[in-house]
Amino acid sequence: KVEIFTKETRDEQARLAADIIEQVVRSKTNPVLGLATGSSPLPIYQELIRRHREEGLSFAHCSAFTLDEYVGLPKGHPESYYEVIRNEFTRHVDIDDSRVSSPDGSADGVETSGARYETAIAEAGGVDVQILGIGSNGHIAFNEPGSSFDSVTRMEELTEQTRIDNARFFDSLDQVPTHAMTQGLATIMKARKIVLIASGEGKADAVEAMVHGEVSQQWPASLLQGHSDVTVVLDPAASSKL
Ligand code: GLP
Repeated sequence: KVEIFTKETRDEQARLAADIIEQVVRSKTNPVLGLATGSSPLPIYQELIRRHREEGLSFAHCSAFTLDEYVGLPKGHPESYYEVIRNEFTRHVDIDDSRVSSPDGSADGVETSGARYETAIAEAGGVDVQILGIGSNGHIAFNEPGSSFDSVTRMEELTEQTRIDNARFFDSLDQVPTHAMTQGLATIMKARKIVLIASGEGKADAVEAMVHGEVSQQWPASLLQGHSDVTVVLDPAASSKL
């Protein structure tokens, strides 16, 4: 079941998404959060940090798994998702740092890190609530068009469009890695609850295909139509083609 909300402002989008996450964090003994990078979820993290500081929302009993990681960035690179998720969110709340995991994107880890990551998620009890963004081509995490619906955590080659979209975080396009480790579509579908946030005109086609399109590997997010608990939080531009 996919429920869609369109909110006028980023703050309203963030509050709605944060409400869903807070409900999970407050109701479970050991909640497992699925964290996404990219710019779309940032207002959600800011809202959760605010609730932590001002309303005592604690993440001390949580663990977290990021969706993906670039392959080959040196450890500590500010654009590695390991660093990004710490700088944007987890360092600012009381979650135990050792319980914030990312796929291993180091060159010598990629062969085995996918399977290890799947095991780690399963051992933690599976993801209770997964935050997602969506790429302009309909990708989720780094599952580019054509990714198998059965896919699990693995290395993927990034499309040119994705590298161009993400070049804004790097000094130049040639510094954007060509490959990434990513949770698979089957991995993401196992999350018990999904909150997808999208803003801006550039996401309108992908959102339309996700919600109303035929379920097709050409639009990886369309697979979410078969999930039992998805909340999609849009701004007016992202929902303009619905
Ligand atoms: C990136 C990430 C995705 C993200 C998407 C959109 O490549 N791997 O997880 O959802 O692209 O990013 P943004 O939210 O910055 O538009």
